Amino acid sequence: MVRSHFLPSTLELGPPTDLDAFAFQELLTTTPFLFNNSLHCNLLQCTHFADTLICAKEANQLVAFIFGYRIPTRPDTLFIWQTIVTEPYRGQGLATHMLQTLLRCPSCQDIVYLEVTIPNSNQAS
Ligand SMILES: CC(C)(COP(=O)(O)OP(=O)(O)OC[C@H]1O[C@@H](n2cnc3c(N)ncnc32)[C@H](O)[C@@H]1OP(=O)(O)O)[C@@H](O)C(=O)NCCC(=O)NCCS
Repeated sequence: MVRSHFLPSTLELGPPTDLDAFAFQELLTTTPFLFNNSLHCNLLQCTHFADTLICAKEANQLVAFIFGYRIPTRPDTLFIWQTIVTEPYRGQGLATHMLQTLLRCPSCQDIVYLEVTIPNSNQAS
């Protein structure tokens, strides 16, 4: 886990564990704009795709995550599928910091492009 320097010092960034699949489910269920996944899907994200997923936790509670995966036919491109920063942590640069931290990880050193799909109505995204 890596500590963030400009958000609460108790906030820690790092990869997921398989147990985080339950917390993903909770955040996806309670966040507008996002579609829920099955718990099985969340578990696969947290295990098979852990190299391209970053979590932010405070007191061991998941408060934010960014899930990306390499596009199979274009592995130099990271597709950002889901990003959630819970309300109390928004507007403080956490999503930006998490994305930068993820891209600095050894597993993402060869990423050249980012892709994302968002609706026009989601200004924050
Ligand atoms: C989108 C979201 C992840 C942003 O997280 P955040 O930590 O607040 O974002 P940051 O503080 O890093 O801000 C990043 C940029 O977005 C801008 N921004 C953040 N919230 C904004 C808002 N409500 N309206 C307009 N711009 C916004 C910031 O000004 C910043 O821009 P800058 O780099 O030019 O200064 C967060 O609002 C969220 O979880 N929303 C609900 C879930 C969602 O819609 N996820 C995206 C689709 S998967």
